[in-house]
Amino acid sequence: MTIYDANLIQFPKILDPRGNLTFIEQERHIPFEIARVYWIYDVPGGEQRGGHAFHKQEEVIIALSGSFDVLLDDGNAQKIVHLNRAYHGLFVPKMLWRRMQNFSTNSVAYVIASCGYDEDDYVRDYRKYKSIVRRSE
Ligand code: TYD
Repeated sequence: MTIYDANLIQFPKILDPRGNLTFIEQERHIPFEIARVYWIYDVPGGEQRGGHAFHKQEEVIIALSGSFDVLLDDGNAQKIVHLNRAYHGLFVPKMLWRRMQNFSTNSVAYVIASCGYDEDDYVRDYRKYKSIVRRSE
């Protein structure tokens, strides 16, 4: 997996003077079967979340409210994706290191995941991540 395997998905946007609406249908918009959703909110200024990779889990990250940056790292290259639209989802494949940072006030990170919560799926140590990635090259 490389940072170029992560890509932005555009969800439908129904413009309406009463307020806009966006929806997601698993089979049309999400490239995996949804097992779980979770959201991160009330992030204090300057905090970071999610410095890790997953062995198996794939996910789509949405800035449902406000904005934040997702730093992606494949062991060779890095990129930062700024999320600030409720109709954009960032697809993150398995085994990419990712960290969420620079949360704006009242932002909400909504994460759609391909697996249930499993601590054994996490790679939380960056050096271990690099060694796993190097072995699979
Ligand atoms: P974690 O994924 O480590 O947060 P971060 O995104 O900052 O890396 O999750 C923080 C804690 O919440 C961890 O102890 C496990 C728990 N947790 C669950 O129980 N279920 C979940 O679906 C998630 C995402 C986390």
